[in-house]
Amino acid sequence: DSIEKGGYEHFMLKEIFEQPRSILDSMRGRLELESGHLNMAGFRAYEQKFVNAHRIIIVACGTSWHAGLVAEYLIEDLARIPVEVEYASEFRYRNPVISERDIVIAISQSGETADTLAALELAKSKGATIFGICNVVGSSIARATDAGAYTHAGPEIGVASTKAFTAQVTVLALLAMCIGQRRGTLSDTKLRELMVELHSIPTKVEKALKLDAEIQRISETFKDVPNFLYLGRGYNFPVALEGALKLKEISYIHAEGYPAAEMKHGPIALIDENMPVVVIATRDSSYEKVVSNIQEVKARKGRIIAVVTEGDTTIPAMAEFVVEVPYTSEVLVPLVSVIPLQLLSYHIAVMRGCNVDQPRNLAKSVTVE
Ligand code: G6P
Repeated sequence: DSIEKGGYEHFMLKEIFEQPRSILDSMRGRLELESGHLNMAGFRAYEQKFVNAHRIIIVACGTSWHAGLVAEYLIEDLARIPVEVEYASEFRYRNPVISERDIVIAISQSGETADTLAALELAKSKGATIFGICNVVGSSIARATDAGAYTHAGPEIGVASTKAFTAQVTVLALLAMCIGQRRGTLSDTKLRELMVELHSIPTKVEKALKLDAEIQRISETFKDVPNFLYLGRGYNFPVALEGALKLKEISYIHAEGYPAAEMKHGPIALIDENMPVVVIATRDSSYEKVVSNIQEVKARKGRIIAVVTEGDTTIPAMAEFVVEVPYTSEVLVPLVSVIPLQLLSYHIAVMRGCNVDQPRNLAKSVTVE
């Protein structure tokens, strides 16, 4: 067991620390910086269908659904195709409108989630083109699709998904870049910039992992609280959801993720001097707005833990705790900003004596409804 964990105390921690490598593996052979080529066999198989697609529908559950939300931003931004992201369990039972011009992408680490598989079969029966993004090679979802892309993150043992999420986002970013290039919605210059940036992500993740000791100290302060709120906007909104899910799953602390601007329509009522609020406030197009959201939390004495871009000089004056992550392009920021949140949930869960790798009531893959 301890050999399998590679010297780490838990599989989850090992998998968090494997991310520089697993992200690299998920783009290996697909992103060729020297020649400037993107090679995705799954995309090539459906190239024409992606070019002509009226709509892309993403079906998934849990953490994979959060990767799907990131893809909604990515594909709409870079490829200008409307995207809908659906919980597979809702999609399959609500008589969805699906046409032959739709592409349905199923995202699943295990490739065995019953609801995701059923949603995919339904879409297939209605004539949609189906595309799978799975981690487990030869899994049911991978076999049910004619084309797709494996995430190549390696086996994920911890029930709470970490490296599978960043591998999914990497593959989805590559896919959005391929579609954008082919549809002409992404200029060569912008594409080149993004390729260089994506290539640098493993190094930036490596740097973000150095926050571990600092996050351990922050975890000490908050390990006994009953509630947490996570806020983010734009590309960091799905990251807020994912941070909250990680904490719920393994520490059993109630946590909610919210789009920061939506806070005023509800969660703001919960904020008092006992409420920790994790705000993901990296340098991007919504930065100024997130700073205002931080002020709103501060005015109500909420305890702010901010994830900021290195060198930020504004937010440290407003937050109780600040963790700095390296700068990256807005469209790739989830790959970096999620790292401190994974570590925060991990350390809090360990301090609370929880079974991190096998949390109560949860399964690694849910093969029944
Ligand atoms: C379970 C796991 C989650 C996972 C979800 C979807 O709930 O505990 O970690 O995100 O299933 O699994 P999938 O294998 O389809 O990505």
